[in-house]
Amino acid sequence: MRCAILLLCCLPFAAVGADTDTATGLIKNPGWELVRAHCGGCHSHAVITQQRADRQTWLNIIRWMQSTQNLWQFPADTESQILDYLAASYPLQPHRRRAPIPVNLMPDTKKGSQK
Ligand code: HEC
Repeated sequence: MRCAILLLCCLPFAAVGADTDTATGLIKNPGWELVRAHCGGCHSHAVITQQRADRQTWLNIIRWMQSTQNLWQFPADTESQILDYLAASYPLQPHRRRAPIPVNLMPDTKKGSQK
């Protein structure tokens, strides 16, 4: 039982590790090389991997950088692939933190005092 819970907890991390570029931290979904090439020149790719947004909001972020931060224009096809990648790899997630672990499943550090 304990093992099953541990396994379930670790699986998401294992999955991320397998599909992530070690140099940039980008998830290796289709189009990731475009984002590596175009999106790491001014700031760390971590700025991207920490962000969550829907496709329209990703577009808004790109437009904001283009109008205020000297980000270059993309050919429509390139921009579309970048947006597909961003929206699929870093989508909005309402619940980014797991639920708290129930008290009865927490390690018994102070025997007798908590329950
Ligand atoms: C020409 C420079 C430049 C390039 C290239 C660039 N950015 Fe940015 N970006 C900035 C600046 C400047 C900021 C704001 C300062 C900061 O956060 O470092 C920023 C901020 C961001 C943010 C944070 C926005 C927020 O609301 O906090 C995200 C997300 C982002 N960039 C994504 C991207 C993506 C995706 C690409 C590739 C399509 C990209 N950036 C390419 C200059 C650039």
